[in-house]
Amino acid sequence: MGRVAYVNGRFVRHAEAAVHIEDRGYQLADAVYEVWAVFGGRLADAAGHFARLKRSLGELRIAAPMSDAALTIVLRETLRRNRIADGMIYLQVGRGVAARDHAFPNPPVSPSVVITARPVDLDASEARAAAGVGVVTVPESRWGRCDIKTVGLLPNVLAKQAAREAGAVEAWFVDDLGLVTEGASSNAWIVDAEGRLRTRDIQANILRGVTRLSVMGLIAESGLDLEERAFTVDEAKSAREAFVTGAGSLILPVVRIDGAKVGDGAPGPVAKRLRELYISQARRNAS
Ligand code: PDD
Repeated sequence: MGRVAYVNGRFVRHAEAAVHIEDRGYQLADAVYEVWAVFGGRLADAAGHFARLKRSLGELRIAAPMSDAALTIVLRETLRRNRIADGMIYLQVGRGVAARDHAFPNPPVSPSVVITARPVDLDASEARAAAGVGVVTVPESRWGRCDIKTVGLLPNVLAKQAAREAGAVEAWFVDDLGLVTEGASSNAWIVDAEGRLRTRDIQANILRGVTRLSVMGLIAESGLDLEERAFTVDEAKSAREAFVTGAGSLILPVVRIDGAKVGDGAPGPVAKRLRELYISQARRNAS
C-alpha cells in the first residue's frame, strides 16, 4: 500500500487526493491547521495541539468536524496506513465548500478535513541539530492574529524562501521596534548574555507554540531561569545561544543570524540538553 491521505471522511491514495475547487481553504485561506511530531506511531504533545486547534476553530467560528476522540482515531489510522513510526502528521480543517463569497456560507456547510502524514529521518534531523542552522531576519509583515494557526501563510512562505536563498533554514520576523517576534514556522529563543532563557511573550502577535510550552516545563524542571520577554536582533547576535522550537524542528540550535556567528558558532549546551530532554519526554508521553 502506498501513501494515503484522509480527505473528508475517506482514506484515498495520496497521489489522487483532492479537494473541491470551491473549498474555502483553497480559495480564501479560510482554514486552520495543526502539525504534530510523531514518535513510535503516536502523537507528541497531543493534548496541546488539540487545545490549540479548538481555539483556532473557535476564533474563526468554524465548527469542530468531530470530537477529539474521533479525531485521534482518524489521525492514528492515517499513521498506521502510512506505516509511520517517526514523522509528522498534518491536519487541516476549513470552513467548507461553498460558492465563492467572502462572508461565511449561510446556511453553514460541513467543515473540510484533510490529513496527511510523512516519515522523518531522525538521523538526518539529529545531524542537522548537531551542526546547528542559520536564520535570517525579515521585517514582520503578517496580519494581527498570528495566534490563530491559519493556512494563510504567504508572509511565512516568502520569509522561508528568503532564508533558503541565503543558505539559512529559518527566518525570524522582526517588528517595528526591532524585536524578534518568532520564526516563519517556529518560536525563537535565546540564552542571553546573563544566561537566562528568553522567548517572546504570548501577548505579542505570535503563535502560542505547543513545543514552546513543553520546553518551558523542561526549563522549570531543570532549574534554569526563564523570561518571556522580547529580544532584539542585536541581543540575539550577542547571545550565548539561540534556538528555535516547533513540531517540525523540535529544538534546533541556531548558530548564525544574518551570517553573524552566535557564540562560538556551534550549538550551545542549553539547546542541546533541552533537545534531548524534549525528545525523550515527547517519545515517552506520545499518545
Ligand atoms: N509550525 N510559530 C509559527 C509561525 C509556526 O508555524 C509554528 C509551527 C510554531 C511552533 O509551534 P508548535 O511548537 O506548536 O509546532 C511557531 C508548524 C510546525 C508548521 O507550520 O509546519
